[in-house]
Amino acid sequence: MIIAANLKTNFTREETNLYIEEIEGFVSSKNLTQEVLVFPAMSSLDTNDTSIIVGAQNAYATKDGAFTGEIGLVHLDEFAIKTILIGHSERRHILGETQEELVKKFNYYKDLGFKIVYCVGEPLKKREAGKHEMMEYIASQYDGIDTEYENLIIAYEPVWAIGTGLTPTLEDIQEIHKALKEKSKAPLLYGGSVKVTNAKEVLSLSNVDGILVGSAALYTDHFCSMIEFAQELQRK
Ligand code: 13P
Repeated sequence: MIIAANLKTNFTREETNLYIEEIEGFVSSKNLTQEVLVFPAMSSLDTNDTSIIVGAQNAYATKDGAFTGEIGLVHLDEFAIKTILIGHSERRHILGETQEELVKKFNYYKDLGFKIVYCVGEPLKKREAGKHEMMEYIASQYDGIDTEYENLIIAYEPVWAIGTGLTPTLEDIQEIHKALKEKSKAPLLYGGSVKVTNAKEVLSLSNVDGILVGSAALYTDHFCSMIEFAQELQRK
């Protein structure tokens, strides 16, 4: 399974390096074979000699150039980063990234062979508008995306569940994941208020191939427990 931590706008470089070291130490001491991904803040990227996959939360679709406030491929290359998160709801809804811009970014990093974690998910208004409208909205987030890309991972993260402590019911997650698996065979993660208390249940659902964790992942002991849960479930 894939267990991913989105550290968002938290941890300095020093804190991030300690975090990654601690997670790696745990994973190797327990011989855990799950795929573990960590997405640090941009300025906390570093050359991490680690078995943990370190990815960027964002980068512009460019090698370099005049895009104030953005980083490009050269900045990722500096740290041998080959993994990127695209389409996170905070970038779509707070930073205003459009589907068109995301597609451009997706294609740029796809052509470079990056592992892409592509996020989809509906805001509360769309969920309340009923299943049909909600699924149509999520479907529109697949527009222009190569759903057969071999290095693609999709994360379903309902916007209203992110950082709120609210989650869809397990039945809901299962049903939506089933529908999304019909759109793409890529590994499908669930994200949105995954905690150490509900991670096992979520990971047990069919068509859930892993989790993308925000706030709870800031606690190494919680995040490590989630990796261990995934390992236990796979042993069964
Ligand atoms: P929380 O786990 O804090 O809800 O955040 C989820 C998320 O946005 C992961 O990308």
